[in-house]
Amino acid sequence: MPNTKATAIAHPNIAFIKYWGNRDDVLRLPSNGSISMNLDGLTTKTRVEFSPLFKEDSLILNHKKHSGPALERVRAFLDLIRSMANKNLYSEVTSENNFPISAGIASSAAAFAALALAATKAIGSNLSEAELSRLARHGSGSACRSIPDGFVEWNYGDQDENSYAESIAPAASWDLVDCIALIATGHKKVSSTAGHRFADTSPLQTARVQDASRRLGICRSAIIKKDFQLLAEIIELDSNLMHAVMMTSKPPLFYWEPQTLEVMRAVRNWRAQGIPACYTLDAGPNVHVICLSSVSEKIKNNLEQMDFVQRLIIAKPGSGAFLLDN
Ligand code: DP6
Repeated sequence: MPNTKATAIAHPNIAFIKYWGNRDDVLRLPSNGSISMNLDGLTTKTRVEFSPLFKEDSLILNHKKHSGPALERVRAFLDLIRSMANKNLYSEVTSENNFPISAGIASSAAAFAALALAATKAIGSNLSEAELSRLARHGSGSACRSIPDGFVEWNYGDQDENSYAESIAPAASWDLVDCIALIATGHKKVSSTAGHRFADTSPLQTARVQDASRRLGICRSAIIKKDFQLLAEIIELDSNLMHAVMMTSKPPLFYWEPQTLEVMRAVRNWRAQGIPACYTLDAGPNVHVICLSSVSEKIKNNLEQMDFVQRLIIAKPGSGAFLLDN
């Protein structure tokens, strides 16, 4: 049997309407739908090779061989792909990010989107975009949103078959920019996977989930109509709601640092002065400042003047996952 290999690229994404909490943790069926934007320029490149000569699965991540939990998570995901294709071959997975994993940008989204695409191609399964998104969801929930292009909605679905993401507008449709302000922290953060399991312990989660379809509707129409003010208000509300759930869960999760709040306050002041910028935060202290490209230089300069901002990463709307010619 010949060796089969493929290489794919995927971008991480930033959620505008957040995924937090699952109805089914094993299948990663989320409690609510979510909307995100893929981040151009930030990439994960993953090469997968299956071969009858391999005696076990192996994982090389950013030039370092991994075993333990990282390999286990990849192996469980490859098992799904092997059983779908009905092939019992071990594989070698080699993956590289061009952005620091420690920067707190959700790297698992890009990782499992690129792995889903490369591994299914390498094993000879040709999946539709929806099938790939659904598969990527099993590796990391937010990975399903890194498969389609540009601005993407994950329809939560009520079962495995109908829980996947679709593009709602192409990357080129709106010139938004994400200026990511990285803020130093000495704390070890609680991973998203662990955090999702605490979401239902917050008395606020029910209200957050019940109101989700309203927020999704507003966010979707803000993207389609390119209405920045509408987008700004809904994504700040959604980020605050998710963090309110985090802070009131058991155990409580506080991802914000004092400097996080300082940036959030500054962004709201800039908007009050007429500058089209707003903030959103994932499970970490870094602030994603979303703005129109016409003001991105100004935002960048403003953020650079804050001496606690360790580093800035700038990203435009990005494509979905794609294959490279081997
Ligand atoms: C706060 O997709 O990273 O970034 O499925 O356990 O890998 P797992 O969780 P993950 O959760 C993302 C959480 C978030 C919000 C979001 O991206 O929607």
